[in-house]
Amino acid sequence: MSKLTWMVAPVAGAIMMFAGSSAYAVTIGFSQVGDEGDWRPAFSKDMQEEAKKMGIDLKFADAQGKQEEQLKAVRAFIAQRVDAIIIAPVVVTGWDQVLKEAKRSKIPVFLADRDVDVTDKTLYVTRISADFSLEGKLAGAWLAAASKGTCNVVELQGTVGSAPAIERKKGFEAVISQFPEMKIVRSQSGDFTTEGGKKVMEAFIKATNNLEGICASFAHNDNMQLGAIQAMKEAGLKPGKDVQMVSVDYVPAIKKALAAGEANASVELRSAIGKYIYPVVLDYLKNPTELPKWIVIPSDLHTAGAM
Ligand code: AHR
Repeated sequence: MSKLTWMVAPVAGAIMMFAGSSAYAVTIGFSQVGDEGDWRPAFSKDMQEEAKKMGIDLKFADAQGKQEEQLKAVRAFIAQRVDAIIIAPVVVTGWDQVLKEAKRSKIPVFLADRDVDVTDKTLYVTRISADFSLEGKLAGAWLAAASKGTCNVVELQGTVGSAPAIERKKGFEAVISQFPEMKIVRSQSGDFTTEGGKKVMEAFIKATNNLEGICASFAHNDNMQLGAIQAMKEAGLKPGKDVQMVSVDYVPAIKKALAAGEANASVELRSAIGKYIYPVVLDYLKNPTELPKWIVIPSDLHTAGAM
């Protein structure tokens, strides 16, 4: 049975099991990072719409990028005695205590998208997400081919301490380290926002005499790259031509930039996570058996030439 079939098949049974007892079969608390960039609101919308379709009462909490808000939201979900909690964690650290509290209250926790760094892996059931390291590797491999293995790269990092920033960097570096003439010459966080990306690129432009000797910009998400594109255009540079532009997410605005030749490649991060995660949660509530700690959603590379 394929992984997707394995995940989706149990949902009908799970919904039937809970249906009939109340208007809503199951109550799930979802603590979301915030609404930075274009990808995350698409992910939030999908989680809300998919929950509605499946008859799930979703309690949605937006943490506005702050881990303290997430901790508060999770504790509120515990107090409300929800059936399950889904967390998309802002950063990887600082989760042990609140996850212990959920465990003590016998409320299963699932991770969506981002990861946590906890020693006791039994504190959550499973994580359902793309492979961020693979996304970095795909970006690095594309750039190695496009530049024939010779390239000075500027890197726009995501939120410091977040799983995608850590893993995408590692994956990208793992590939380019195979090429002696490829290196990251400057790297700074733009916090996954367009504004942040623009500021970081403006600083890079200043520090390198208009990106002299720079062959590529690797941004941990499209929104930062879109900000970088703006900054480069304002400086009279031609993004996509003077400098190769590779990023992650594949949001509608980067598709336009790819079509206009201002971006060159983007690794798609699927925002439709609801259809993957809810069946797993519902099935687990019906039949709480041990699951693999990570259920991987595939990633795809899109380039300007082949969209
Ligand atoms: O966790 C995934 C990342 O978070 C997305 O790539 C980025 O756009 C978002 O902010």
